[in-house]
Amino acid sequence: MPEDFERMWADLDPVGRSARTTGYFRQPFTSAERECHAWFVEQCERRGLRVEHDGNGNTLGWWEPALDTGEPAVLTGSHLDSVVDGGAYDGPLGVVSALAAIDVLRDRGVQPGRAIGVAVFAEEEGSRFGLACLGSRLAVGTTTPERAAELRDPDGVALLDAMIAAGVDPGLGRSGWVDRVGCYLELHVEQGRDLDLRDEPVGLASAIWPHGRYRFDFTGQANHAGTTAMPDRHDPMLTYAMTALAANKQARLAGARATFGRIDVGPNATNAVPSRVTAWLDARSASDEALATLVAAIEQQARDRAGRDGTALELTVESVSPAVRFDVPLTERLASLTDPRRPVIPTAAGHDAGVLAAAGIPTAMLFVRNPTGVSHSPAEHAGMADCLLGVEALADCLAELVS
Ligand code: GLV
Ligand code: MN
Ligand code: MN
Repeated sequence: MPEDFERMWADLDPVGRSARTTGYFRQPFTSAERECHAWFVEQCERRGLRVEHDGNGNTLGWWEPALDTGEPAVLTGSHLDSVVDGGAYDGPLGVVSALAAIDVLRDRGVQPGRAIGVAVFAEEEGSRFGLACLGSRLAVGTTTPERAAELRDPDGVALLDAMIAAGVDPGLGRSGWVDRVGCYLELHVEQGRDLDLRDEPVGLASAIWPHGRYRFDFTGQANHAGTTAMPDRHDPMLTYAMTALAANKQARLAGARATFGRIDVGPNATNAVPSRVTAWLDARSASDEALATLVAAIEQQARDRAGRDGTALELTVESVSPAVRFDVPLTERLASLTDPRRPVIPTAAGHDAGVLAAAGIPTAMLFVRNPTGVSHSPAEHAGMADCLLGVEALADCLAELVS
């Protein structure tokens, strides 16, 4: 099994490398990400798994029992898209581990009494169309095809056009496979240092923090950078800059998270006061109420400052994902497969597992230690020995769930 895992890992290693760093950019419905899906299809076919494309850009491989017992299926998997300049592990670790876990089960002679599916979800990061977990949201029906059809990437390309250009046959909407799934188990690299600090290679997830994405459109007056006296300016960059500082301060005070990681400036010229700044806020907090309070405080400070700068602010809520609690009996059952029990820890990162859990599918997650604690960056890392322990843990859990 270690060789299989390492071979699969090496297959994916060169796909979608960033031009300037050691990171990756596997943007949904581009050649790099579709190459990853094609690789997944090939791996499924090599293992005799039945491949399904669901019309939402998700790809699944099914190991079906010789005799259909009608028992609900066990689904595992993750995603193969990445953030801009992301690491190697966020997503691919769960997919490669799922395929390797199937190999382990077969080596152990396990004959599953129900189907095991491996899912690769599309646009988990929301890096192109702005809505995280788009593939799983469409599959379970929490995002409607109408809303998805309106989504545009930063170049104005519509989701459906991007899918067609990538050779995906679109059929947006609730996926039939959802009805056959009895439970979902996603393995993921940990995106913090909790396991490392506990000296544990593998843990389970208890919950996901609520998470929102908000677009701040600041507008002012374009003007000459030399001839416009400072008191005469209506500069939206200043309003934005103060809002970014306010977001940081409010999040610190609340023990929450607030990040402006993307801005778009017009006209974007060195010698002109800008006329507009669009900035995206990613905010997360321990409870739904605390998240709403945090964003309201940031908005209030932004509006106060806009009043002083003579600029305007329009705020658009792009998405809000409420808090997720993973299935307690399922998580307890999987934690108790080891002695001592595996740690069960919360996370502030979003996952397709959260979408499936919110849709009522009993769901659990396994995390593999990340000694740097860094994620969404080329420095994201998990040691090979820990990855292989993760595969064994996933195989143990799947064996338990199909028994
Ligand atoms: C996805 O990884 C997210 O938490 O944004
Ligand atoms: Mn992920
Ligand atoms: Mn991610």
